[in-house]
Amino acid sequence: MAQACKADETRPIWRTETMPDSLNNPGTDHTPVLLRETLELLSCAPGGRYVDATLGLGGHAEAILECIQPDGFLLGLDRDEESLAIARARLAQYAGMFRLLHENFKNLPLVLNNTGITPVDGILVDLGISSYQLLSPARGFSFQSDAMLDMRMDTSQRLTAADLINSLAEDQLSRIIHRYGEERYARRIARAIVAARAKGAITRCSQLAELVRRAVPARRIPAIHPATRTFQALRIAVNQELDGLDEFLTETVSFLRPGGRFVVISFHSLEDRIVKRAFRALAGQCVCDRPPELCTCSRQPQAKLVTNRAIRPGETEVELNPRSRSARLRCVERLNVSGLGSLVPETIER
Ligand SMILES: C[S@@+](CC[C@H](N)C(=O)[O-])C[C@H]1O[C@@H](n2cnc3c(N)ncnc32)[C@H](O)[C@@H]1O
Repeated sequence: MAQACKADETRPIWRTETMPDSLNNPGTDHTPVLLRETLELLSCAPGGRYVDATLGLGGHAEAILECIQPDGFLLGLDRDEESLAIARARLAQYAGMFRLLHENFKNLPLVLNNTGITPVDGILVDLGISSYQLLSPARGFSFQSDAMLDMRMDTSQRLTAADLINSLAEDQLSRIIHRYGEERYARRIARAIVAARAKGAITRCSQLAELVRRAVPARRIPAIHPATRTFQALRIAVNQELDGLDEFLTETVSFLRPGGRFVVISFHSLEDRIVKRAFRALAGQCVCDRPPELCTCSRQPQAKLVTNRAIRPGETEVELNPRSRSARLRCVERLNVSGLGSLVPETIER
């Protein structure tokens, strides 16, 4: 394969762009996180075949396509149709080199088997929501907005954040806020939600944000908005973000060619813990935390760790794109293990 592509310092591919006015969201910036590191770790080069499992607005995908042209191929997935439409327009100049699907990435093994796009040279998963989604007034992800409490990445899904807030028992709410938000005042917040909804449904982001702010002891109000953790928890619950993530990571690595790389970017410790554990297990390390004589881990390595510690954005990136500050990138490389990998021949249906 030709020499791997590096992001050109003189021509940043992570250009800041303005959303189309047609989406009624002017002025929203979109900047792919840890782009240079991602391109280098994925060894993107002409002719490469890649999966971007969380396409978003296509920032990483555009840079990958730039590197793998003229005869490379990229499969892009996202569960958000609005984002897919924006990405499709953005990537138009690479027509014929990509295929975009409205899919949950947890179905990637199935998609790869059904489409015959396998084995691949690299897979990228950039977890969480995009700033586009966060800042889109109608999507209801932000505690700073007055939108309906929605938070669905896939708007064809029925369950919204308002459904959870208005229907779950206090105990269930408390567990979700504690587990997915790591919120120490989860009980108080759940109690306040249940008391408030007895007087009328909680339907708006601003309503919930104010309620949480009042429920958290004033003197303990942290540097972040007091509703940040509750909103994160609800978003994770609505979109079932952590369910099956471990299995997905473990299963998907076998669709890489030997030497192919799997890069995952996460934005909070709950995700990163799952990624770290899954990658260590793939590398044949013990993850059961039992004494060696009781260890039941397979210890059959399928991949090697490329990043022993998570890669974090540098100061300059954080300055240019503050949202990147919590990003952590991990990467594994598939080993040449017989019996693993694609079930179908190396054909691409575009
Ligand atoms: C952080 S953004 C990705 C940004 C993208 N790398 C870019 O440069 O534009 C995460 C995207 O992943 C999507 N997403 C999150 N979970 C998903 C899942 N399980 N399946 C498919 N897409 C998912 C979200 O809808 C969102 O568009």
